[in-house]
Amino acid sequence: MADVTPSTSKKKSGKAKPAPKGKAKAPEAKTNGNSTDATGLRTKTDRPLTSSRQDLALDQSTKISSSDVCVFYGDKQALFDVNVDILSNHVTALIGPSGCGKSTYLRCLNRMNDVIDIARVTGNIIVDGIDIYDPDVDVVELRARVGMVFQKPNPFPKSIYENIAYGPRIHGLASSKSDMDEIVENSLKRAGLWKEVHDRLHEPGTGLSGGQQQRLCIARAIAISPSVILMDEPCSALDPIATAIVEELIEELRQNYTIVIVTHSMQQAARVSQRTAYFHLGYLVEYGETDQIFQAPKDERTQNYITGRIG
Ligand SMILES: Nc1ncnc2c1ncn2[C@@H]1O[C@H](COP(=O)(O)OP(=O)(O)OP(=O)(O)O)[C@@H](O)[C@H]1O
Ligand SMILES: [Mg+2]
Repeated sequence: MADVTPSTSKKKSGKAKPAPKGKAKAPEAKTNGNSTDATGLRTKTDRPLTSSRQDLALDQSTKISSSDVCVFYGDKQALFDVNVDILSNHVTALIGPSGCGKSTYLRCLNRMNDVIDIARVTGNIIVDGIDIYDPDVDVVELRARVGMVFQKPNPFPKSIYENIAYGPRIHGLASSKSDMDEIVENSLKRAGLWKEVHDRLHEPGTGLSGGQQQRLCIARAIAISPSVILMDEPCSALDPIATAIVEELIEELRQNYTIVIVTHSMQQAARVSQRTAYFHLGYLVEYGETDQIFQAPKDERTQNYITGRIG
């Protein structure tokens, strides 16, 4: 089991604390009312943590709030005091040179660093008003709410249908075969893959093209009704046509989900995201509207990166 050390300032109630000074808040957060309604996240005791939702009502568009997040791999510190609020129904791009901590930060958001034995996380991460490092939080449930799509498409060695049905089955989301059929169909439709696979649902998922496999993985993530989707360089193994399809899909998914995407492509960040966070040597250097980050970066390091002088 990973050594994930909860922050000493954590509260059992998962109560969100006010943003510390210097926190990278989005500049003009819009209120949309969706952010705190669709949580469904429960602790192991099945206790809905409703109290903190009222706290978040002050800024309803914040979906994920990170405060003073540090990550250590053994003695080596990979992330330093990351403070950032990620907005609901936005696509947030994480950019920066290789090794700056993008994947490390992304993995903090659904506790995927727990599976790395030497990883230790400190600080607070609040998702929908819930402190996700609270020891009472059910990590399996958390990862259903905060789904992940990896760089390399990784379908299970099962049929297309079973790739989608697996998650809903273990989470008890379908009460009958027809329920499950509907979940499979809807997930594939939302991932833009239904037309291509509806007549081969029982063939292996691994038999699809790379771009189709990545959309299958997105459909699999959607099938368990997450509210956040984390994507770590989801298009890096895809050709430009498959990339364009996945990018269109990301824009559509934003209507219903909050998306955090790591990308090495500045063009992709500019095309798909509304907010961009620039990381450098483990520090979050700059966070703001994507247009501002690319057209008028405030920090010289951001400027150097986007103009190709570092990275
Ligand atoms: N499992 C691990 N064990 C030890 N150190 C790690 C581990 N994963 C990442 N690191 C270190 O943490 C730092 C940040 O790595 P991370 O993978 O988060 O960077 P990144 O920004 O995603 O890079 P890339 O763009 O190359 O994917 C690096 O110095 C890396 O070597
Ligand atoms: Mg990475």
